[in-house]
Amino acid sequence: MSPHYVPRPGRLYGTEFAQDPQSVYTALREHHGPVAPVEIAPGIPAHLVLGYRAALDVLTNVGEVWSKDSRPWMATLPDTADVQGLLGMLAYRPNALFNDGTVHRRYRQAVTDCLGMIEPHRLRALVTETADTLIASFATTGRADLVGQYARLIPLRLFNRVFGRPEADSAALISALNGLLEATGESGAAANAAFGQYMTDLLALKHAEPGDDLTSWLLAHPAQLSAEEALHTVVLLLGAGNEPMANLISNTFSRMVSDDRYYTSLTDGALTTYDAVQEVLRDDPSMANYGPYFTTAPLNFYGTWIRPGELVLVSYAAANTTPSELPDGPRSDSGSHLGFGAGPHRCPAADPALLIAITAIDRLLTLLPGLELALPRHHLPWRPGPFHRALAELPVTFPPLRPNQPGETPWTTPHQ
Ligand code: HEM
Repeated sequence: MSPHYVPRPGRLYGTEFAQDPQSVYTALREHHGPVAPVEIAPGIPAHLVLGYRAALDVLTNVGEVWSKDSRPWMATLPDTADVQGLLGMLAYRPNALFNDGTVHRRYRQAVTDCLGMIEPHRLRALVTETADTLIASFATTGRADLVGQYARLIPLRLFNRVFGRPEADSAALISALNGLLEATGESGAAANAAFGQYMTDLLALKHAEPGDDLTSWLLAHPAQLSAEEALHTVVLLLGAGNEPMANLISNTFSRMVSDDRYYTSLTDGALTTYDAVQEVLRDDPSMANYGPYFTTAPLNFYGTWIRPGELVLVSYAAANTTPSELPDGPRSDSGSHLGFGAGPHRCPAADPALLIAITAIDRLLTLLPGLELALPRHHLPWRPGPFHRALAELPVTFPPLRPNQPGETPWTTPHQ
């Protein structure tokens, strides 16, 4: 290496990173060690925590050295379109994700108590019903894009129901969120307004007519969330749940159908869907780098000076795959991966998320035998973005089904 060589910050945006993030993590580790300079958009810097031990240090010391409050960082940002896009994910809000200490515990208690009231058997029945309806919509054609026609729709349809709105209203939520995903400029503002309207209508409806649903439980929780806090908590549940859920389903499914430890076209493989989901959460987690943290005082962290107001991103994807910090080969301790985070902000929905992913994948395997990828897995397109690990498309083929054919089909399954 030349004495004047100054490595450039790693780029966490653009298609190159999206197609092969692990090569970027490897290069950053070689040049910088466990903490590396990156850009999450052109000219917007962050520190990326790549080491497993370093990641655990951040995650378990939040509230002391580390904070989740993004406001000091927001004050340093220019007002550009790129920054507006990032703020959707990183702007401070009065909810569990962006607060510390007692304020965090109050929000978090409301979230965990209400998530705990979702009965697993009801959730499984709802996922099965949702999955079967979606599979029925393409089963006769023999081909599908399992991202656009399945994985992205499952969590949105589920959330719409779990939040307490009728099935027919899911179309409004899906169109607003798809609009936000694709949006730029004016169409972005319109999609944002449509999403805001869905949320305002939801909370107004549940204030007026409480029901047996997550929104009504939150509004009635002893934490006595204000109207604004309740709104930001529902938005967090949707925001934190939707994207990683969709990606976990599609990432895992793409891995299963291209790996005969799990699946062959003749017979099922020896490993289960649970094994595949755990493997993806460890090696290729869907919340890849979405662990925003900030220091409360200047800190020398594994050789890098970090100042208050600088963004630190815990890379769950890089930490989980740190060579030499983790044992090689199959692990009996798959639960120790950081795919759901760790410490006080660890995902409070890990159990329902596993149930949803496993049920959604198993419905595909049960109802569409002979499913195959239409492209080799290494040619599948990945959606650019600094935070997620998301397939853009998952084209598959399968022998078409007929509604009147014998045996279990998406048109015949009872959902209880
Ligand atoms: C399927 C995959 C999911 C994955 C991989 C995942 C992963 C994570 C991770 C890594 C964190 C920690 C973030 C941090 O340290 O800042 C987190 C937090 C969170 N997740 Fe999940 N999540 C998933 C599904 C869900 C679902 C379905 C919901 C809601 C229904 C949800 C709700 C939340 C909430 C509310 C937090 C913030 C908790 C806090 O700050 O105290 N997640 N999740």
